[in-house]
This record gives sequence, C-alpha cells and structure tokens, in this order.
Amino acid sequence: MPYITVVLNRKGGVGKSLFTVNLAAVYAEIIDGDIDVRDTEEHVPSVAVVSIDPQATSVEHAQKVRKEGRRVPFRVVNASQNIDQLRRLRRAKADLIIVDTPGFMPLKEEDDEDESIDPLGDGTVGDALRAILDVADDVIVPLEAEGSAFSPTKVTIERVLRPRQIPYGVVVNNWDPRDGTADRDRTISLAQHRDWDLYKATVRHYKQHTRGIVNGRFCTQYESNHASTKAKQDFVSLALEHQLRRQKYAEGR
Ligand SMILES: Nc1ncnc2c1ncn2[C@@H]1O[C@H](COP(=O)(O)OP(=O)(O)O)[C@@H](O)[C@H]1O
Ligand SMILES: [Mg+2]
Repeated sequence: MPYITVVLNRKGGVGKSLFTVNLAAVYAEIIDGDIDVRDTEEHVPSVAVVSIDPQATSVEHAQKVRKEGRRVPFRVVNASQNIDQLRRLRRAKADLIIVDTPGFMPLKEEDDEDESIDPLGDGTVGDALRAILDVADDVIVPLEAEGSAFSPTKVTIERVLRPRQIPYGVVVNNWDPRDGTADRDRTISLAQHRDWDLYKATVRHYKQHTRGIVNGRFCTQYESNHASTKAKQDFVSLALEHQLRRQKYAEGR
C-alpha cells in the first residue's frame, strides 16, 4: 500500500508544486537509484506525483524536464478531475505518492472562525481536496518566510488539518540567508506561538529552484556548482526529516 503525503496550503505561491516535484525526485533517487525504471507492468517507479491542481504546475514541470531530454524518475498523474481515482489511491502501485494541491477558497477575514463554513469550499477543487485528505497519511505545509501567508496557513492547519487529525508539519520556505535570519525567526516564533508542528528543515531561496520549471530540471539534475548543491541539499534534508516523521507517526497510531 502506498504512503500518501499531501502538500497543502490554502495560499498560492508558497512552494507546493516546487516541494512536490523536488521531494519526489529526491525520494526516487534514493529508492530507485538512477537506473531507468520503465513504467511497465513489472517495473513501476516507486514514487508517484499526483496533481489535483487544475493548473497542473507539477505536471507541466515534469513535461518540461522530458522535453529537455532529461529523465522523470517518478510517475506523474493529473487527477484534478478524477475524484474516484483519488478515493482509490491507496490501491495504486507505488511506495510513495506525493500530492500537489491547488490553493483553495479565500475566506473573508471574519469567516476564518465561522465553523459553519467549510474552508475547502464547494465545487471540484473542494471535492478533490476532501477526497485526498480522506486518504492522506501526512501533510507537508510550506510557509513562506514573510508575513502574508500566515493567515491562510492558520486556516489550513487549524480548520482543515487539526479537525481531521492528520499528522502535518510546517516547512519554512523561500528564505534568503542574505537577508539575515530575522524573517525566518519571526515566522518560526509565530508558528511556535500557535503551537504548529514545525519541521527543523527549511528550504532556502535559490534561483535554481525558480528556474527549474523554465529550464526543465529537478533539484537532482541541477548543474554541478556550489549553490546548486546547497539548493538540492535542502530537499534531501527535508526528505530525511519526513522519513523520520513517518516512523514517528506510525508509532503514534
Ligand atoms: N525556495 C525557493 N527558491 C526559489 N524560488 C522559489 C522557492 N519556493 C518557491 N519558489 C518560486 O515561487 C513560485 C511559486 O512556487 P510554487 O511551487 O509554484 O507555489 P504553489 O504551488 O504553492 O502555488 C515559483 O516560481 C517557484 O519556483
Ligand atoms: Mg502549485
């Protein structure tokens, strides 16, 4: 049975699609190595990316990687319109499935606390999110190291994840060490204040990440130089911490 990790945050642009493909690439490299695992009946890649985002950024990223003649070491499934497929996801052939999700219904500030409103909203996006959260084993919540993502993240954690009792961890993303540690530290202390479960790993800002979708590379395929190595290392560390959490979550069951 596959382990299903959902990358979720109500706010767009916080790094959900970036996290999805790069975590998948790192895991695939660790589990399958760099042998060309053919996607056939007998040889299925261990890792799959499932996108339920109508914008399908991670699907597009994988297409660009292929177009540039590089290998996509995981299976890619666009399931934004296929709720039944999501409900059956536990029966899929994979060890690990990472799910890329869209941002969802922006609530008015005063609706944030209104229990009668489902923050996942109506329509296909809401239905797809509900279906995927029903089968999720854990959730990764990227959070940008500057203030504006805080309120949507609060709704994501406190109104979507906690009531469902899904284990989750918040990962501070996109902080630039050249700007100093103030933004990152403020974000961490806000999260601690709300008692959110935080990853120790953070993902720093690197141009390589922004360019990856343009020039068709995952972090495992960045050119070999110092900055690229550090950019990739953040996802390796995140994958390792995620793996340790999986063990912890399993013991907690
Ligand atoms: N750590 C980072 N370093 C550099 N660029 C980043 C980083 N995180 C996100 N970005 C860029 O920010 C934009 C939004 O990220 P994306 O993953 O598409 O967000 P989401 O899927 O949450 O909407 C993309 O252009 C992405 O490359
Ligand atoms: Mg996205």
